[in-house]
Amino acid sequence: MRPLTHTVNKHMLPVANLPVLFYGLKKMEAAGIKSVGVILGPFQEGIRDSVGNGSQFGIEVTYISQGPPRGLADAVRCARSFLGDDDFVMYLGDNLLEGGLEPFVSRFHRTRADAVVAVTRVVNPTLYGVIELDGDQILSIEEKPLTPRSNLAIVGIYVFSPKIHEVIFSLKPSGRGELEITDALRVLHQSHRRVVVQPLEGWWKDTGRPADLLTANDLELGGLSAGGVSNLARVSEGATLQGRVTVGPETVIEAGAAVYGPVVLGRGVRVGKGTHIGPGTAIGDHAQLEGCTIGRSIVMEVARIVGPVKIRDSLIGRRVQILAEKPGESEMEFLLGDDSVVRIRPSDQ
Ligand code: G1P
Repeated sequence: MRPLTHTVNKHMLPVANLPVLFYGLKKMEAAGIKSVGVILGPFQEGIRDSVGNGSQFGIEVTYISQGPPRGLADAVRCARSFLGDDDFVMYLGDNLLEGGLEPFVSRFHRTRADAVVAVTRVVNPTLYGVIELDGDQILSIEEKPLTPRSNLAIVGIYVFSPKIHEVIFSLKPSGRGELEITDALRVLHQSHRRVVVQPLEGWWKDTGRPADLLTANDLELGGLSAGGVSNLARVSEGATLQGRVTVGPETVIEAGAAVYGPVVLGRGVRVGKGTHIGPGTAIGDHAQLEGCTIGRSIVMEVARIVGPVKIRDSLIGRRVQILAEKPGESEMEFLLGDDSVVRIRPSDQ
């Protein structure tokens, strides 16, 4: 699958009904980081509306406009006056991880490094920045190498001292025309500054691709505690709820509907009779489902799925309508952007 393009505000795509970016902001707060600069590209203005001043996360957010994306090192350059001469954490907003940021921050302080970089072993290192090690010694640092020297990928978490600014100042754009943070790390290392590699514990997902977003949804839903039905939800007696199911306020589950956890249903969702949901499915606020079967999918806000269609492994955007007039023989897989309409009609014969 191709990466989601910059025209999709991928940081706001929901995983277990929360925008991906929110998980990162919560992790920063948990690691004691209270002042956060959010760097916005040209299609990311919606972030301002949802994150606001950050008080809902217990942090103080400053917005920094990057303009056209010219690389992660360029993003740091844009944040120069916000960062001043402080040490800082750089967290890529489309990354999700099981653990917290504390191990990276405390390693940074303990080792008095100029950079701590989070790494993990992957099966497809050509998609990432790659570090080659001999014991603790760094042998090479390369961005998306065609022939990787190791399978140790750079995860989107870095802790830097202000020394990084001097390096970024002298960087040249890479082959893809970006100022690469990986190049900055390499130059920092080559100039005998201390670059420390810290392995990540637990799972990690770069949610830039639809398949990864679904896996992240599985992982976050799997980690949810007990579930729970809001006092303001209405679950009919004839409805089936099994496993960890979270039901938001004003959501209605009618008789003859069945929900098999882990599932999250947002606020004001309507699950009509004959609807089967789950496992591994998140349904956004005010979605309406009637007579359909949906497993392992993300259905975003105000989507409407009506009729005897069977859906799996799908990403269904905001306000999408899927209207099925005939029973589907097999399961269908959709990747539908906001406002798409799909009609499934009986054939003429
Ligand atoms: C960026 C970094 C890369 C890192 C990856 C992690 O890649 O350049 O080194 O491994 O994030 O998600 P990009 O998302 O810009 O392709």
